[in-house]
This record gives sequence, structure tokens and C-alpha cells, in this order.
Amino acid sequence: MHPMLTNAVKAARRAGNIITHASQDVGALKIRSKTYNDFVSEVDHAAERAIIDTLKDAYPTHGFLGEESGNSNEEAEYVWIIDPLDGTTNFLHNFPQYCVSIALMHRGQLTQAVVYDPNRNDLFTATKGRGAFLNDRRIRVTGRTKLQESIIGTGFPFRDFTHLDTYLSMFKDMVKKTSGIRRPGSAALDLAYVAAGWFDGFWEIGLSKWDIAAGALLVQEAGGIVGDFEGNESWIDTGNIVAANPKVFAQILQTITPHLTPELKSPARG
Ligand code: IPD
Ligand code: CA
Ligand code: CA
Repeated sequence: MHPMLTNAVKAARRAGNIITHASQDVGALKIRSKTYNDFVSEVDHAAERAIIDTLKDAYPTHGFLGEESGNSNEEAEYVWIIDPLDGTTNFLHNFPQYCVSIALMHRGQLTQAVVYDPNRNDLFTATKGRGAFLNDRRIRVTGRTKLQESIIGTGFPFRDFTHLDTYLSMFKDMVKKTSGIRRPGSAALDLAYVAAGWFDGFWEIGLSKWDIAAGALLVQEAGGIVGDFEGNESWIDTGNIVAANPKVFAQILQTITPHLTPELKSPARG
């Protein structure tokens, strides 16, 4: 394993232990609402601190972009992108679908990824150019060729309803054109499931960098494609993301294209 990935795994497991310990008594946690329907608990903060302390120890000059602590040393050559607990709402309801997500960006390129599910003890990892793994076994996206036979993951809008109507019209089409839609509630795990071949594809509007950085590299290293709603590169900045095996990717784009508003198209370059 690449040494930087080894350290990221160490950090993710530490965060996972904090989360698992806290899950035994969620009622005792201090919870704050950041904005409407956006909750953060002391566990999110403690897990992020453990990740950053672990990585800072190993790499004192690296930068960090963490959901809870924001940016530090963002101009650094290496920047770690961290979601210490993806699926907080699930966690707070004892719904066992949440994870730790850690990615490394090197000069604008994603190079390392860890998504760790402490409930199932599933450790998804990838290093750019070296493939994607689940608990040390190589994983690949599905070979399914028809959207109609596919299971697709997604996320519903739940705190920002700007694009709710657009989303619902996409959803209506997608429901009819697939074998089924799933909304488990952790975007990082949804992407890991595409990489593992448990979903054939995934789409969601307006995610944040920390939700998708690690999962996207997993999908790419598992042979899948990641793009924005026109198949371009803006997904990492806009959070408008489609990820799937190559055949299904094209069919998801075809299905959502008729519904795209100007704000959901790729931003003009330059
Ligand atoms: C959320 C989850 C969810 C997605 C939301 C994210 P959080 O992350 O990934 O699946 O639909 O948009 O914000 O807030 O639990 O870290
Ligand atoms: Ca998240
Ligand atoms: Ca989070």
C-alpha cells in the first residue's frame, strides 16, 4: 500500500472508532444545527480532529480541507479533503449507513482515497493508477450495459430546495428507466458502492468536495466514469455529479439532459 494511503487508513480507522463508540449512546451527544436540516454533533468534530492530528503528525506541511474545520494551508502541494462523518443524519437516528471519507489532492489531482464504513468494517481504498480495493480485494464497476437493468443510487435534496423541482423531474424519468433507485444517505458510500459494483451508477445535485473526492477516485480506479451533468470535469467544484460504469454513465446523462436548467449545466470555461 502507498505510504500516504497507509496513513490515511490509520486516520480513518481512528475516526471510525470514535464514531462507533459514540453510536452506543447517540442521545447523549451535543448536537447543533448548522443550517436548516444540517446537523453536526461533537462526534463529527472529534473524528475530524483525530484525522487531522494523525495526518499532520505524518505530514506537517500538508494542507487540509475539512467539513467541520474548513481550510488550512490550502495552497500546499498536498491537500487532504476530509468528511469525518458522511451520513450524519443517519448516524443521529441510529440508521447504520455512514462513513469516514478522506482523499488526498496533489497539485489538483486526486491521488489517494479512503472510505471507511465502521458498521460493516468495509474499508474502500484507491491510489491513482493502482486500482480500487475493498478490504484488500480488487473491486470493479459492473459490466451492465442497460440502464433499464440497473440499480442507481442518488441523494434527495433535503436542506437546499433550489433544484427540488428539477431533481424530481429527473427522478421521475429515472424511476421509469431503471430497475430501481436507492437513497441510502451517505454520498461517499454511494460512490464506493458504484466502485464495488453494488450500484451501477449514482447521481446527485450540489454535493460538497468532501462528500465526493474520495468516492470519485474509487469509481475511476474501479473502471468507472465520473462527470458533471454534461459529462465534464466541473463535478469536483459544482458537486453536480454522475458516476457509473461507462455504458450506464452515458445513459444516465441522456436521461437527465432534458431536465437541465442553465445553472446545472457545466460552467463556461476560462
Ligand atoms: C450528506 C450525505 C448525503 C447527501 C448530502 C450530504 P453529511 O453528508 O452525503 O447522502 O445527500 O447532500 O451533505 O452532511 O452527512 O456529511
Ligand atoms: Ca458529507
Ligand atoms: Ca459530514
